[in-house]
Amino acid sequence: MPDIRPPTSGLRLILGVETSCDETAAAVVASGRWLRSNVIASQFHLHAAYGGVVPEVASRHHLEVILQVVDAALAEAGAGWRDLAAVAVTAGPGLAGALLVGVNTAKTLAYAHGLPLLAVNHLEAHLYANWIETAGRAYREPELPALGLIVSGGHTDLVLMRGHGDYRRLGRTRDDAAGEAFDKVGRLLGLGFPGGPAVEREARAAAKTRLRLPRAWLRGSDDFSFSGLKTAVLHSVRGEAGPPPPVPELAAAFQASVVDVLSKKAVLAAQREGARSLLLSGGVAANGPLREALAARSPVPVFTPPPVLCTDNGAMIAACAHFRFDALRAGWDLDPQPAMRFCS
Ligand code: KG4
Ligand code: ZN
Repeated sequence: MPDIRPPTSGLRLILGVETSCDETAAAVVASGRWLRSNVIASQFHLHAAYGGVVPEVASRHHLEVILQVVDAALAEAGAGWRDLAAVAVTAGPGLAGALLVGVNTAKTLAYAHGLPLLAVNHLEAHLYANWIETAGRAYREPELPALGLIVSGGHTDLVLMRGHGDYRRLGRTRDDAAGEAFDKVGRLLGLGFPGGPAVEREARAAAKTRLRLPRAWLRGSDDFSFSGLKTAVLHSVRGEAGPPPPVPELAAAFQASVVDVLSKKAVLAAQREGARSLLLSGGVAANGPLREALAARSPVPVFTPPPVLCTDNGAMIAACAHFRFDALRAGWDLDPQPAMRFCS
């Protein structure tokens, strides 16, 4: 293990480990803000043939690569075990078998190196991607209270963050998560897996379209629903209401509907709650039109991590662990919590 730098004074280095779904990731972050390394081994090529993540395949692959990924994260950071203040790991929510690999690896490494073990909630950590410095941008820390929009493959949550560890859930999806809808529509349109980036690419190729798909506003509530939209795409693909529109137009109309609902509802909630910033996070936050719509509509500063920190990564785990260090201390009996929650 390389140990080429003296301990960094004044900064707290945390190793973050993430294996909740189909990315095996590890990163070293200094004091929750400064990225020292970020190593991500994505498995999406293994799952593409099945059109979705196969849990057993995911766990096996995590097991095969996790130690190399951790070694690479330390080497890239130029850090040794003695430089670290803690090992943080995603404890949930996620796939049980996948989480088990990260949790047991982190537990073993922390114990062997005499470091504290911190158990991190994956969704809370997505928010903390917004605390990490982005190269080429002046560092700004989000002001609280903040409105968090967490849009991932498994979740769509609107959360009011009043302080570190102090959250109130305002709304959530009543059916499909936003990323899940992108993935299913990607499959319906024959664009492969994961659907999000593929649908975004395809939509870019669309000429201006008059095709308009439904929006579920669920007025009076901060909840979301995407299953009706997905069904509308299915009907269009089958040509049930006339000749099927070209695939790029369908992709563009679907994306426009999701972006419209997410951005307008998030901005309304931010205004109503007196939020001082808006935090976009989760895999779908990588979507260009969503980022642009929020930036254009929001009256308060919008924080969007660079795309590599939107999708699953170890850096957000380490960042969250820094700000919530004492609260997240875990014992050696830590088990994965596939349905872990971080706010009510
Ligand atoms: O946060 P994430 O990496 O994993 C979970 O915690 O679920 O999110 C993955 C999701 C997938 O559904 C993927 O299709 C979606 O994020 N996604 C996108 C884009 N990039 C990834 N959705 C829309 N546009 C994108 N550019
Ligand atoms: Zn995620």
